[in-house]
Amino acid sequence: MSRIAYVNGQYVPHSRAFVHIEDRGYQFADGVYEVFAVHHGRLIGQQGHLDRLAHSLAALQIDWPMGKRPFMVAVNEVVRRNHVTNGLVYIQITRGVARRDHGFPAQCESALVITARKMPALHKPTLSKGINIITIPDIRWKRKDIKSISLLPNCLGKQQAREAGAFEAWMYNEQDEITEGTSSNAWIVTADGELVTRDVSHSILNGITRLAVLEAAAAAGLTFSERAFSRQEAAEAKEAFITSSTSHVKAVTRIDDAPVGNGHIGEMTARLLDLYVAYIEEKGGPVKTDRWS
Ligand code: PDD
Repeated sequence: MSRIAYVNGQYVPHSRAFVHIEDRGYQFADGVYEVFAVHHGRLIGQQGHLDRLAHSLAALQIDWPMGKRPFMVAVNEVVRRNHVTNGLVYIQITRGVARRDHGFPAQCESALVITARKMPALHKPTLSKGINIITIPDIRWKRKDIKSISLLPNCLGKQQAREAGAFEAWMYNEQDEITEGTSSNAWIVTADGELVTRDVSHSILNGITRLAVLEAAAAAGLTFSERAFSRQEAAEAKEAFITSSTSHVKAVTRIDDAPVGNGHIGEMTARLLDLYVAYIEEKGGPVKTDRWS
C-alpha cells in the first residue's frame, strides 16, 4: 500500500510529494518541525506538540499555515490514510517559497508538509535492553528550545555515534555539562540516587516525553531535580536513560564504553518506563505544556 503525504493542502502519494526548490526550508533551513508518537491509534502529547510548535513558529515569526483545528484534522487524516496505529507523524512548517534573499520576504505563505510512518509498537523489553551512548561537544546554536529543521550538528553527532557503535550521542557544553542527546533528552540517576534531567532554558529542547515522565514521576510521589549535570556525574551515574517521542523511555547501559551501574537497566529507569506508559495511556501525554525556554 502506498504512503500518502500532505503537501500544502493536498494529499499526494509519498513518491510524488515535492516542494519548490526555492522553499526557504530547503535553502536556509528556515522552518520548524514536530514529531508526534502514535501509540495504539492515539496521538501522544497533542497539546504539548501544538504549544511547542506555536513557540517555535513565534520565535521565527512564521505564520501558522492554517488554524489549529484544520491543522489537527490534516494531521489525523494523514495518520488515517497511512493506517498508522503505532508509529510517528512528522510535521514541517517552513516560511514558504520566495526569491532567495536572507531577510524575510515581504509576502510569503508558510508551507506545510505532513507525513506518517508505521513503527513497531512500544515494547518494554526492547526499551529495557539498554543502549550505548557516546559524549561529544555540543556545537549547536544558542536557541535549542526552537525545534528548528536546521539539524546538521545533530546529524553529525548521530552519525558519529553510529560509527562508534552507539545508539545516541549526548552533547556537552563548554562547562562540561550534558545538554541533551542529538534527538532525545538526557537523564541520569546519580551515584547518590538523585533523578536528574537538565532544566528548561535555551540550552535544550523541552521534550514532550520529558514532560510526561516528569509528571508521571511527580504523580507517583518520586522526587527529581531539573538541573545541569556534568559529564563526570554522567560517567559516575547509577542509571541513565533517554526520552523522546520515538525512543519513549530507553535505558542507557554504557556511556563512552564504560558500563552504567551494573550494565543493566536500573530500578528507577524500569519504574519510570512503567509509569510513563501508564501515564500516556491514561492522560494522552503531559498536561502542563506552557514552558519551552
Ligand atoms: N526529536 N531533544 C532533541 C534535540 C530532539 O530532537 C528531541 C526529539 C528531543 C525529545 O523531544 P520529544 O520528547 O518531544 O520527542 C529532545 C525528534 C523525535 C526527532 O527529531 O525525530
